[in-house]
Amino acid sequence: MPDSVLSLRNVALSLDGNAGKVDILHDISLDVASGETLGLVGPSGSGKSSLLMLMGGLEQASAGTITAMGEDLTAMNEDQLARFRRSHMGVVFQSFHLIPTMTALENVATPLELAGAPDAFDRARAELDAVGLGARVDHYPNQMSGGEQQRVALARASAPRPRILLADEPTGNLDETNGAAIIDLLFGLRDRHGATLIMVTHARDLAARCSRVIGLRDGRLDAA
Ligand SMILES: Nc1ncnc2c1ncn2[C@@H]1O[C@H](COP(=O)(O)OP(=O)(O)O)[C@@H](O)[C@H]1O
Ligand SMILES: [Mg+2]
Repeated sequence: MPDSVLSLRNVALSLDGNAGKVDILHDISLDVASGETLGLVGPSGSGKSSLLMLMGGLEQASAGTITAMGEDLTAMNEDQLARFRRSHMGVVFQSFHLIPTMTALENVATPLELAGAPDAFDRARAELDAVGLGARVDHYPNQMSGGEQQRVALARASAPRPRILLADEPTGNLDETNGAAIIDLLFGLRDRHGATLIMVTHARDLAARCSRVIGLRDGRLDAA
């Protein structure tokens, strides 16, 4: 696919668990087009988070190839992957994953600094403003509600203007009102920056906002 930003070919994932090798994903082939919003649905334990980790270069595939923005993630070492993630991927998790010893501003500015932005703190401030947290920049994660922490996580993920945004059940720890606000922000950021969005969700109404939905079952792609 010529305008594909992410391409998986015969990807498999096996991990060594306590009880031996566990096969988690089998023979996944998939193309994600530039600008697409892709919903990933399926039962608990079907491999959704694992697949997202592979797409984000946070986990290495056991077999197959993953190409992102034309680069082969499966051929990269840890350093190369980390650099690639910093410049091209933004990830939002269900449990926020903010650094507890850093303020909201520091949480957002740090990845910008790592990416070499000279004005990291000014940009971080603007990003926090854009998610409605301009007055909370000096607060620590434990001084914020879940919805506010997730807004910081969104600002952190989108600040470096990644081409690919990955979200793993981003509303899973939030009530309906806060969850809806996060989704509006997430899609708003995506629209503004033209990123490709891949979102794992349990919620059918969220999946319905995506331009395409794919399903996983027992580690295999399933017609959704
Ligand atoms: N580090 C790991 N070691 C062994 N098994 C794992 C590990 N992480 C996940 N699994 C297993 O992989 C399967 C898929 O997990 P996951 O990707 O988290 O599914 P989902 O996000 O759809 O709930 C589950 O059976 C889970 O128990
Ligand atoms: Mg999961």
